[in-house]
Amino acid sequence: MAKQVRKAARPRSTAKKPVAKAVGKRTVAKKAPIRKAKPKVASRAAAPKIASRAAARSKGFAKARALASTRKPKRKPPSKPSREASNKPWGGDGKALDGVRILDFTHVQSGPTCTQLLAWFGADVIKVERPGVGDITRGQLRDVPNADSLYFTMLNHNKRSITIDSKHPEGKAVLEALVKFCDVLVENFAPGALERMGLTFEHIHELNPRMIVASVKGFGPGPYEDCKVYENVAQCAGGAASTTGFLDGPPLVTGAQIGDSGTGLHLALGIVCALYQRNRTGRGQRVLAAMQDGVLNLCRVKLRDQQRLAHGPLGEYSQFGQNIPFGEATPRAGNDSGGGQPGWILKCKGWEKDPNAYIYFITQAPVWEAICDVIGKPEWKSDPDYAKPAARLPRLKRIFDTIEQWTMTKTKFEAMDILNKYDIPCGPILSMKELAEEQSLRKTGTIVEVDHPTRGKYLTVGNPIKMSDSISEVKRSPLLGEHTDEILRDVLRFDRRRIAKVQASGALGEPMALAAE
Ligand code: COA
Repeated sequence: MAKQVRKAARPRSTAKKPVAKAVGKRTVAKKAPIRKAKPKVASRAAAPKIASRAAARSKGFAKARALASTRKPKRKPPSKPSREASNKPWGGDGKALDGVRILDFTHVQSGPTCTQLLAWFGADVIKVERPGVGDITRGQLRDVPNADSLYFTMLNHNKRSITIDSKHPEGKAVLEALVKFCDVLVENFAPGALERMGLTFEHIHELNPRMIVASVKGFGPGPYEDCKVYENVAQCAGGAASTTGFLDGPPLVTGAQIGDSGTGLHLALGIVCALYQRNRTGRGQRVLAAMQDGVLNLCRVKLRDQQRLAHGPLGEYSQFGQNIPFGEATPRAGNDSGGGQPGWILKCKGWEKDPNAYIYFITQAPVWEAICDVIGKPEWKSDPDYAKPAARLPRLKRIFDTIEQWTMTKTKFEAMDILNKYDIPCGPILSMKELAEEQSLRKTGTIVEVDHPTRGKYLTVGNPIKMSDSISEVKRSPLLGEHTDEILRDVLRFDRRRIAKVQASGALGEPMALAAE
């Protein structure tokens, strides 16, 4: 059988690797000890910092620091871009967002995923947290007593933490000073919370017209704009739940956090675009990513199907072949493929005991003949009921049942190896355990081991976007308020007396970093 298959289906010479190679192979986990990290290259909004550095060289650091703390930041016109190529080796010329400073007012998941991405690309992300409490996720779903939860650590890598009570007058003054020294303010508070702190867009722009103010909200302007929203609410309101699950079951939410992390990703793109536009206009702007909009964007093929329904039943949905009538809205499609090439999840050897012994199998038209040979149905190649894609649509269930008889004789990895030789699109159902152990993902830095002073070693997902000249290092998340002093001193250039005064006011809470030392 195997011989016959190979002859008829002309296998490729080498099997496709299950995981694609990434560009940035040198992504590494970096153990980041508690230390006084030097601030990165100053942003244009932080022009006085550049000035103070020059002054520090010529007149002495202390004098320059005193000067900078009293002066309003001056805005330098953007410098002319260099036309000369970097002579540094790939990955040796800093990071894409070096020089961008983010005032990170985010919490829970959606906002933190956005600022974590920006931090991986080199932005200096200063996370502002409530004294004594911090981001609520620090204490949620805790696995190690008295240590920041994985929920928090896995969403807040590469950031610095400062604790500020934003409702305390001294705290407000510190925040306003930070606004002047940052390029982007990112927040995902409930609607109105930022404004209640006194940080309206107008006020922020008065303080720093170059500031980009980026927000995640549950909904955009409209009937629900004042609502608080969490992940699954967004999945339901954005169209994902109504189109996920089986036809005869209730709507389902997915494990992929498309509402939170998906919207964070959208917001990050908006911020980078706003930074790019600011190069031209010199002005910051508001950026809004609503979770409902983000989910709907990810569900756009389902809105496509909604409109196709007006022109007749959707042939690629298996309910078509089962003669189940379509209703008025895009139905739940089970494991049907969302595109024009029918697919389904099929059992593999061991499925009785292993809940993940399955493979996704796509009956892509160009490789149909190879599929027939592989599964031992060569007669289907010329059978008018099976030879052409349109003829197959009403028979998808029978086709997948037959293919499953073959996949059940192979493990998911054996099936992958065989099918990939013939370019038949398929994918094993990988468990989180298998992904955590997958060595190719470790090599590319997609799965990274990180060390943390209070919880020890843990695994995280590194930067999924690989760039050859902006290589990501994954540094552990900050302890609550770990960088409070450092930020007051190095970013705001407060002198010792001023730092002591703010601390004594109670606006910053207790210096928490010591707790972990
Ligand atoms: N100092 C003082 N007060 C602070 C503070 C600080 N450093 N940081 C936050 N706060 C205050 C806020 O000002 C707010 O107070 P107010 O309501 O009196 O004005 C309060 O903390 C709580 O903020 P809020 O955003 O309402 O938190 P919540 O826990 O009640 O709601 C969400 C959480 C996620 C539901 C809500 O923030 C939300 O809908 N966000 C937008 C959508 C979103 O991102 N959802 C996904 C989350 S993964």
